[in-house]
Order: sequence, then C-alpha cells, then structure tokens
Amino acid sequence: MARFLVTGGAGYVGSHVVLALQERGDEVVVLDDLRQGHRAAVPPGVELVVADLADRRRVDEVFAGWSFEGVLHFAALSLVGESMREPMRYLAENLSNTATLADAAVRSGCRRFVLSSTAALFGHPEKMPIDEAARIIPGSAYGESKFMAETALDWADRVHGLRSAALRYFNAAGADPKGRLGEDHTPETHLIPLAIDAALGRRDPLMVFGDDYPTPDGTCIRDYVHVTDLADAHLRVMDRLKDGPSVRYNVGNGLGHSVKQVIESVERIGGRRVPHSIGPRRPGDPAILVASNEKLRRETGWQPYHAGLDEIVRTAWAWREAHPRGYDDRAVPEGAARAA
Ligand SMILES: NC(=O)c1ccc[n+]([C@@H]2O[C@H](COP(=O)([O-])OP(=O)(O)OC[C@H]3O[C@@H](n4cnc5c(N)ncnc54)[C@H](O)[C@@H]3O)[C@@H](O)[C@H]2O)c1
Repeated sequence: MARFLVTGGAGYVGSHVVLALQERGDEVVVLDDLRQGHRAAVPPGVELVVADLADRRRVDEVFAGWSFEGVLHFAALSLVGESMREPMRYLAENLSNTATLADAAVRSGCRRFVLSSTAALFGHPEKMPIDEAARIIPGSAYGESKFMAETALDWADRVHGLRSAALRYFNAAGADPKGRLGEDHTPETHLIPLAIDAALGRRDPLMVFGDDYPTPDGTCIRDYVHVTDLADAHLRVMDRLKDGPSVRYNVGNGLGHSVKQVIESVERIGGRRVPHSIGPRRPGDPAILVASNEKLRRETGWQPYHAGLDEIVRTAWAWREAHPRGYDDRAVPEGAARAA
C-alpha cells in the first residue's frame, strides 16, 4: 500500500483515478477547492482537503500532514475558449500551481509526479495519428499553459530528481462502468454529455460546429478514450516512475470518431433522437485529432478495455440518466469527512 496526493480528485478524471487507486488498496488524499469538483465524487474512505492550490500555506500543510509516494495533478483551468479570452490567467495559474506543487513534493521527499496534460499541445498536427515526436505548437493559451507545466516538471527532474510523467489526454469520455462516478461539469463543454442531455430534453439542441471539414462526413474527428482506461494509464505510469525516467505519453484510443458518429451512437444507445443544428466552424478547431498510443502500450502494457464508441456512450448515458441533476453534493454534508 502506498499513499498518493490527488489534486482535482473531486473532478471528472481525477475522481475515477482516486477510485482506481483505492480499489487496488492505496491510500488517497484529495486536494480540491470544489470550484468544479464535487464532494459526492470523492469515495468514502478518502480524505478530502478543500483548498485552492494557489494557497501555498495549505499546500505545505498537506505535505506536512502526510507523506506521499506520488502526486497526481489534475487541478487546472481547462477551458480552451476561456483561455483565449483570459490567456494570462491560464498561463499564470496553471504554471504556478504546478510549480508550487512540484516544489512542495520535492521538499517533502516525494519522488513521483503525474501531470494531466493535453492533446491541445499539438495545435494543427501535420501527421495522424499523433505520436510523442509530433511538434508542439499549442493552438490555445490553455495548451501553452500545459506545455509550460510540462517544462517546469522537466526542470524539477533536472535539478531535484523529481520523476514525472505528462499524460497528454485526448478526449476523456464515459463514466465508471459500475455507475459510481460520472461526468458533471458546469458549464459542460464536452460533446458526449451535451449530446446525451440534448437527447434527454435537458438542454437546447446541440450545436455542431461545422460540417465542411475535410473528413468523410464533414464533421470533426476526435479520439474518445474511456475515463476508466485513462485511470488505468495513470496507475501504470505512476508505477513505472518508481524505476524509470521521466516520460511523456499521448493517451487515446487510437481511433477517431466524427461528431456525427457520436450523435448516431447516442441515438442508438439512448433510443432517442439528438436534436441538433449545424453552425459555423469554431476558430482553431483542427479537422482531426487522433492519438498514437503505441508508446504507452509498449512501455506499460496499457490497452483500452472500453474502446468501442457505443460502450463509452453507454456508460455515460447510464450515469447521466441516473443523475438528472448531476452529483448531489447535499447528500455529503461538509465536514462529514470522507475519511475512513
Ligand atoms: N476531460 C478531458 O477530456 C481532458 C482532456 C485533456 C486534458 N484534461 C486535463 O485533465 C485534468 C482533469 O480534467 P477534468 O475534465 O477531470 O476536469 P475537472 O474540472 O472535472 O476537474 C478538475 C478539478 O480540479 C479542481 N481545481 C481546479 N483548480 C483548482 C485549484 N486551483 N485548486 C484546487 N482545486 C482545483 C476542480 O474543482 C475540479 O474538481 C485537467 O487538468 C484538464 O486540463 C482533461
């Protein structure tokens, strides 16, 4: 058994990783200020520290209170559109919070660090699928901020020997197959939950941004990776850092699906039409983004177990249908600590 600190562990991807760590017998402390996350997404038995990462004193207290084998860092500003309106806030906050955390980890003697990075590093890639050698030309301030966070971690290794992995996720999707966790963002910007909610009549018709891209059906193609598979990647990579060097991986299914294919899948699984309309292209959206997951497979033995689009959509549909208002945080009173 080991103990890990998970920042942003009350959020979508982080909570699925917390659950996976807990299920294999590790102890977890979550640090999250709940600006996006949910108390109810933190499983019983896990300590939740409600704090902003920008609060160095609180971060230091956490490292003084527990010793950690490793840190998994999910907490970040992560809306591409917002980052183009407030670029300085994104660059400053995502870099400085990563640096604060890495610094605290180093000072406490913690030697392993996994960062949530993003496919947004690659802007408009020249070659598909995108492997780790692809040129990094972020198409947004959000992507740039994650690249700066990766660079900070390179320095933490070079100077202090902190071993890190940056996982460049493509599109995280789906929900815990046992229905314990799901995706609940406000605002929601991800296609699958938006399409499901449109089908369930819980929101306005879905807007498809452009159907004149150079793809077979004209809509953008993305790589949807199941959040449980993504969680598994984190555990494997964290384990590998014990003896291995710092590393960067692209994490996706290796398969692309168009917006229209996603809509069709939601209609198939839900048995309802997804009301939608076609709008103009969104500035900066590349036509196709698909990951090469070869390196991750080769070096960690990872493989996607929930690779089919219908399976991904089925788990997302089940959770959203069962949680019409998302997580019910009132069911977990503040201070009724999730501690064991
Ligand atoms: N969801 C995706 O498809 C996707 C794709 C690529 C990269 N990522 C990256 O993965 C990470 C997790 O994504 P997600 O979809 O789970 O996001 P999320 O918003 O659901 O989770 C992030 C969590 O971090 C917390 N948080 C944010 N800033 C904080 C701060 N300063 N202090 C304390 N807590 C803070 C939020 O309350 C939230 O619970 C992010 O870093 C994101 O950039 C996500």
